[in-house]
Amino acid sequence: MMQSEPSSWQLPPAMADTATRVDDAYNFIFWFSVVFAAAVIAITLLFVLKYRRRSGVKSESTARHTKLETKLEILWIVVPTLFIVVLFHKGFSSYIHNATAAEGATEIRVHAKKWSWDFEYPGGARSNELHLEVNKPYKLILSSDDVIHSFYIPEFRLKRDAVPGQYSFVAFTPTVPGEAHVLCAEYCGTNHSAMIADVKIETPEQHQEFLASSGKKPKVCGTPPVECTDEKWGESLFQKNACFTCHGNAGDGMTGGAKSLGPKLAGIFGKPQSLADGTSANADENYIRESILKPSAKIVAGYTNVQMPPFASLTDDQLEAIIAYIKSLK
Ligand code: CUA
Repeated sequence: MMQSEPSSWQLPPAMADTATRVDDAYNFIFWFSVVFAAAVIAITLLFVLKYRRRSGVKSESTARHTKLETKLEILWIVVPTLFIVVLFHKGFSSYIHNATAAEGATEIRVHAKKWSWDFEYPGGARSNELHLEVNKPYKLILSSDDVIHSFYIPEFRLKRDAVPGQYSFVAFTPTVPGEAHVLCAEYCGTNHSAMIADVKIETPEQHQEFLASSGKKPKVCGTPPVECTDEKWGESLFQKNACFTCHGNAGDGMTGGAKSLGPKLAGIFGKPQSLADGTSANADENYIRESILKPSAKIVAGYTNVQMPPFASLTDDQLEAIIAYIKSLK
């Protein structure tokens, strides 16, 4: 197996594209600061030496009154400002890059709870180790069952809070086969320090082996419990809660050939929705969750007559199933 090299003498090995970008920014800012600090110290020492008090030299004769030098003042302001703009650009562009999932990224759901990590792969496989395939883009959807945790992989230079009641995201492509670790970076109780999971970055063959051996442990849902996928369960919840009466069959936004009472749901996922207050919101996992729990929080333009009750009794698992179903509607 290929061994990953530390990306610098200060940092752990870099094992994902996100790490490379963070390290580039980090190293640039670090060496930039070293060079300037060294220059300032060197000039200070030089002046201390050059203008020190010497016998036979009257201090008044060397002192000259300075007058306002406008050009110099402007230079002092403009040059450091340009430096700051360059540093900001370096950091911010990496941040944006790391916050955006690549097209076709594999989605893995990460459930944090006191005190373990649970990873759920497309197709229903679950594990307490994070298995990834090298050079494949991933999007992780983080949620927490109890308190705030923080998902941290030092080798990927990634850290994001997992907050109860909402979803957060990280996106990356692992670049080196090998092992890394997920740590919890937010104090969450007695066993916070033991909240560690292995990350296995595998070759395509190894990853296929993992998926095959872990077996598709299908999700069990509903009462009475039956084997199902999130999408299927979501569909049954959509029927059971009569969502179709206002959103149309399969969320197509139509009832009896006319515009339905509630907005269309099919095909909205990941797209910006125009809201009644003139703003817009991206229809992601958080948007759908909020719309189910608090229907009036964001009102779609043209649907101001909100009659939907808040479905506050739905569990996190049920909400995830409904989100999976709405995602699947085209
Ligand atoms: Cu979970 Cu600290």
